[in-house]
Amino acid sequence: MANYGENEAQRKFWNEAPGQSWVKHDGVMNLRLGNISDILFDRLKGTPAFNVLDIGCGTGSTSIRLAKTLTQGALVTGIDISKPMLEKAREKATELANVSFVAADAQTYQFEPGKFDAAISRFGVMFFEDPPKAFENLRSAMKPGSQLTFVCWAPYDENEFFSVPLKTVLDFIPSQYELIANAPGPLAFSDKNYLLGILQSSGFSNSHIEAVKTTVDTTDAPEEDAALLMQIGFGARAVREAELDQKRTDELFQLFLANSKVRQRDGIIKYAATVYIVTATA
Ligand SMILES: C[S@@+](CC[C@H](N)C(=O)[O-])C[C@H]1O[C@@H](n2cnc3c(N)ncnc32)[C@H](O)[C@@H]1O
Repeated sequence: MANYGENEAQRKFWNEAPGQSWVKHDGVMNLRLGNISDILFDRLKGTPAFNVLDIGCGTGSTSIRLAKTLTQGALVTGIDISKPMLEKAREKATELANVSFVAADAQTYQFEPGKFDAAISRFGVMFFEDPPKAFENLRSAMKPGSQLTFVCWAPYDENEFFSVPLKTVLDFIPSQYELIANAPGPLAFSDKNYLLGILQSSGFSNSHIEAVKTTVDTTDAPEEDAALLMQIGFGARAVREAELDQKRTDELFQLFLANSKVRQRDGIIKYAATVYIVTATA
């Protein structure tokens, strides 16, 4: 059994039901994050990269896209703490000789020093218990002067994919649901100053944060959208914590469904989103 050491709560989270939901919805989640991936890959253009690290690579979608788009001979390594998600990543990448995956905690894994000439992440760096330690460890794995580029979520209020489902749950079951600032989770780096402080204290320089407005879109039917939002994201977390019986779960599903139907226009359901594209030099 792998020893993940620190980040035990996140290891459990991503190896149990939430990680398994990501595996189950891998295809649709990747489509929903399509606009954001395009923005990330657009910003990566021109970054010299022959040996790239994909941090918190999950089911491997960005690792595979990198492997297909980089210069011939370039290598991609995805690291992730979730075994089921990596299993899916390996399955998807079987035909690619230039991608490999490591099952480990990126905060503590002993990388070969200075191995990577670029590091990227799509939403895989906000879950560390000790972010300065994790970023210091990641920086040591990168060649001095090479570039880290990642995307993370801006504040909750700017991201309907989080706020719409959570509001639906909280209107249904009024409870004291607390969003803890800077705690490990999707919104951990939504405070720009906090994020810049972490990058600086872990030795990165030239840190830059660009806020980009976009949308999380899907052509899924409202029924599929509602079902997915009850399994992934902030609404899903509140649903899990409420431990509803089947009757109440079905009632709540009808509310999710009504929301999804209202948002659908010309066959597309859209959620407004703001992300940060973050770059820093190792
Ligand atoms: C929101 S998912 C994003 C997955 C993937 N990058 C994508 O965009 O599809 C966050 C990922 O970070 C991973 N993760 C969380 N903590 C980690 C850690 N300490 N070390 C490595 N990966 C971690 C999770 O297992 C999960 O796959």
